[in-house]
Amino acid sequence: MHLSRRGLLFGSAGLAATSLAGCGADGESGALTGHTGIAMPTTTSDRWVVEGADLEKRLKGFGYETILSYGEDNVEMQIEQIRSMIDKGVEFLIVGAIGNDSLGAVLAEAKNKGVTVIAYDRLILDTPDVDYYASFDNYEVGVLQAQHIIETLKLDEREGPFNVELFSGALDDNNSQYFFMGGLDTLESYLYSGVVQIPSDETEQEPTSTERWDRGVARERMTQLLDDHYGERKLHAVLSPYDGISRGVVEALVAADYDPKSDDFPVVTGQDAEPLSLKAIKEGTGQSETVFKDTRKLAEVAANMVKAIVDGGTPEVNDLGSYDNGFQFIPAYLLPPVDVTAENYQEEIVDTGYLSEGEIDEAEPDQG
Ligand code: GAL
Repeated sequence: MHLSRRGLLFGSAGLAATSLAGCGADGESGALTGHTGIAMPTTTSDRWVVEGADLEKRLKGFGYETILSYGEDNVEMQIEQIRSMIDKGVEFLIVGAIGNDSLGAVLAEAKNKGVTVIAYDRLILDTPDVDYYASFDNYEVGVLQAQHIIETLKLDEREGPFNVELFSGALDDNNSQYFFMGGLDTLESYLYSGVVQIPSDETEQEPTSTERWDRGVARERMTQLLDDHYGERKLHAVLSPYDGISRGVVEALVAADYDPKSDDFPVVTGQDAEPLSLKAIKEGTGQSETVFKDTRKLAEVAANMVKAIVDGGTPEVNDLGSYDNGFQFIPAYLLPPVDVTAENYQEEIVDTGYLSEGEIDEAEPDQG
């Protein structure tokens, strides 16, 4: 199980990629105004809500007009929203895609009108009409999650076997495969040596996937796995790619009488540093790790890409060879993800002003 790893990853920023941009939304060259459509995927996960607002604020701060929309995990709705932005004359689109390969037709319309397209966090596939990609090192996210399991269970010092189950994200999100690969590659040697075993035998992306990254879908699968494979057996860890999924997994474990306060509660990983997951991490009541992606920096990178073009330059990128969208490698700016546990959440999350202790302590429980 090995997808192509990274190609050319440039450590330092500063490469200039050739941009197709430079003509106005009406196709005539001339001064750009920075008018930007921001198409975010959903309001069901905290990060997109915060980032949509952050992007608007930054772009407005540059004096640009913006249109912000949320597709609520509905591909058709997102396509309509993007089409309406094009009709309203945007010169730039920043898109957090829902269906990674469903936007070809609408982006062709955008390109006809000279719109510059920035894929935001999630790469858009199978279209020649994506100009830039702003994201994190997604493979590394999976590596960090798997390393947390390896270190917490001390797999290098013990023989096992330890029972682990794998979860992956939405199949139509291009990021899912990177998270999954990073995790699986990192666990691979422990699987070969038998220190780790996966009782369900579900080790491919499809059977482990979680539609819409949905917590309830994850809870159901975990419940089923426990019923089918863990009668007498004990589960030791769950590789989970995202906090919402992790909380669904924990709910299923608790329902099956695993005690979240006990030391031998399964190790559950996560991603996105959501307040409710951080609360559990801090209090030691379930999930024990999350991967923090400083989305303030991502919004800054994407907004600066727009500004660079409006100012007549080219956006800064630091990767030209990792993300092939089926047509070409997309010039990308990738930010580093950070492993967060009870030991360093204060330093990484609170001290950097991402969330306050209060926001973590008072996080609203999930509904439904
Ligand atoms: C992914 C993203 C993750 C997480 C997930 C669910 O595309 O990279 O950070 O937010 O979507 O929203």
